[in-house]
Amino acid sequence: MNVTVVGAGKMGLPLACVFASRGASVFVCDVDWAKVESINAGICPFQEPGVDELLAEGVRSGRLVATTDTGSAIANSEVVVVIVPVLLSDSREAELSMIDDVAKIASANLKPGSMISFETTLPVGGTRRLGHIIDENGMRAGVDYDLVFSPERVKSLFVLKHLFNNPKIVGGITPASAARGAEFYTKYLGAPVINVGTLEAAELVKLAGMIYRDVNIALANELAAFAECIGIDFEMVRQAANTDGESNLLLPGIGVGGHCTPVYPYFLISEARSRGIPVELAELGRKINSAQPRKILNKVGDVQGKKCVILGVSFRPQVKESAYSPVFALASELEIRGASVTVHDPLYTEEEIRRLGLIPGEIEGNEILILNTAHDAYLNLDFADLARKGVKCVVDGRNAWSVDAVVAAGIRYIGVGRSTR
Ligand SMILES: NC(=O)c1ccc[n+]([C@@H]2O[C@H](COP(=O)([O-])OP(=O)(O)OC[C@H]3O[C@@H](n4cnc5c(N)ncnc54)[C@H](O)[C@@H]3O)[C@@H](O)[C@H]2O)c1
Repeated sequence: MNVTVVGAGKMGLPLACVFASRGASVFVCDVDWAKVESINAGICPFQEPGVDELLAEGVRSGRLVATTDTGSAIANSEVVVVIVPVLLSDSREAELSMIDDVAKIASANLKPGSMISFETTLPVGGTRRLGHIIDENGMRAGVDYDLVFSPERVKSLFVLKHLFNNPKIVGGITPASAARGAEFYTKYLGAPVINVGTLEAAELVKLAGMIYRDVNIALANELAAFAECIGIDFEMVRQAANTDGESNLLLPGIGVGGHCTPVYPYFLISEARSRGIPVELAELGRKINSAQPRKILNKVGDVQGKKCVILGVSFRPQVKESAYSPVFALASELEIRGASVTVHDPLYTEEEIRRLGLIPGEIEGNEILILNTAHDAYLNLDFADLARKGVKCVVDGRNAWSVDAVVAAGIRYIGVGRSTR
């Protein structure tokens, strides 16, 4: 079976490696030459546990080849899997140009009788729309080729584990397309497969999961603020509440980042608005979580002229990924308030931090430390030493530090729902 994976990114490459390891001959396509060269040299261009080995084996066996010639790869494949980004536009709509480009290439090259599966998170109705683009070649989705949507539901650092264990959701433009998608993923991924029938049901599964997470965090943020006001430690409450077999309250924090959680709720919100269907909770979740950086900084008070360092560019610990990280809102909010702001992250070089529009700095030499990312490197700071070097206040945006250790060092502690009484 020849399989093309379009998009050799953090999600697409591991997927391609797994298909190859299970016997498929895989073309993995990307517009980025450097990435393609690296893959063909057997070197994974990013860090993801287990992928190095799978990639080296795929390249060595000849079952995995990277190319920039997506058209030829598609023309020579029975199955095409697409996982290129869909971003959020300034007006908070899905920005579909990259995936539309792939659909156009597919339109020109897809073989009759083949199957194309989109894995990129899409608004409900997005796959059918891509099918219309492909159909401009005269073929009909569900008749001349199979059209499938199967959302990617894994996360960096756990990609292979999640690929093998998380049930793979599949929907198709026809029951036959869905069944073919289910058969393909059962054989070439090996994970349990859940066939939810239609494209739209599969699209909504992914969005529902993201909105659940966002709204849940918003609820945790609200409860944490309440608990803090009345002097109760919210983490203790959260853990106790989660023992009833029903609750699964997530962690409150200084903000939600990443490609997924702060983005995909808008795919549903926008579509629901256009159909006149109210989705107030999804909107409220976004509103609460977007306000969180500002709300937590309000607790600090006057920062005019004070030297502050934000610890962590990444939106998630140990992952070098800055998409929609709260670091951006924190830095601009502190600047508006007149603080002198720098940013530190052990995973980024100073130049990389600058390229993100931020100013790199060191941990020492600041009056205020703001923890955005609970990187391991930040978990065991010596607060007594930092106090001697001028730190007067810490904002523990991830509740990662010991209140007692901070307070004992004579530093003011500000957390998210933690009692300092
Ligand atoms: N990153 C995550 O944690 C995550 C988790 C779940 C789902 N997803 C889904 O996966 C999608 C991709 O995420 P990712 O992390 O792999 O992104 P990524 O940026 O790491 O990789 C995307 C790749 O697509 C390539 N690309 C862009 N346009 C292309 C084109 N026309 N033809 C060929 N290649 C093209 C880019 O060069 C890049 O290498 C996301 O948009 C999301 O829908 C991501």
